[in-house]
Amino acid sequence: MRKPLVMGNWKLNGTKESVTALVNALKEPADKAAPKADVAVCAPTVFIGLVEQLAAGSKLAYGSEDCDIHVQGAYTGENSPVMLREFGCTYAIVGHSERRDYHQETNEYVALKYQAAQQNGLIPVLCVGESEAEYDSGRTMDVVKAELQAVIDLCGIESFKNAVIAYEPIWAIGTGKTATPEVAQKVHADIRAYLATFNAEVADGVRILYGGSCNAKTAPDLFAQKDIDGGLVGGASLKAPDFTAIIEAAVANA
Ligand code: PGA
Repeated sequence: MRKPLVMGNWKLNGTKESVTALVNALKEPADKAAPKADVAVCAPTVFIGLVEQLAAGSKLAYGSEDCDIHVQGAYTGENSPVMLREFGCTYAIVGHSERRDYHQETNEYVALKYQAAQQNGLIPVLCVGESEAEYDSGRTMDVVKAELQAVIDLCGIESFKNAVIAYEPIWAIGTGKTATPEVAQKVHADIRAYLATFNAEVADGVRILYGGSCNAKTAPDLFAQKDIDGGLVGGASLKAPDFTAIIEAAVANA
């Protein structure tokens, strides 16, 4: 059985004050959920030390929104997976569509980030998903397969034993246009079927989160789907009551 995971992606948001209030408010819901669902927040790197201190002693896990392919050296502005691990990160999101788009990250480059995160003790959360034009022209799985294939080529199918996949249709991110549970379930099942062509056991075990306007209203029906193992939540993860309701939806469907 796959244990659901609810993960917040704060993106470029927060202040010391709001981060403190949010983490303090999420510790209890995370502890309560822990037997049935994992809860994590991915924070801007500058706040990770603060999250580490605040989350200490609770079941609230945390991670970064990105990580570099290098562990150290002359790479101004980057964040090393080793450093993120030292600050207690469990997860690192890699290949979010905003990074692919605004920072021209290719499938191959994202695979290097996935590899660097995993080799240094972080669980990579690999984001995949198609644009609106690709969705409209029925090319969702072509895009998603290529994104997965780059990782399979570099790291092997077995690497998904220690990774998370997040299916995030780009047209649903921050738009309020959530994919219907049926549309999302179909893609999740197709992702699992594709991975199963390489290794059925790995495909069955890997957690596939849904992301894209996942909120307190949409989460219950999404999480009721067979192949949806939780959510990667942007906007709704910034408000403790909303995120707590999403956590509760995951627990209810665990
Ligand atoms: P959203 O973002 O929940 O605000 O749509 C999700 C994401 O980009 O991870």
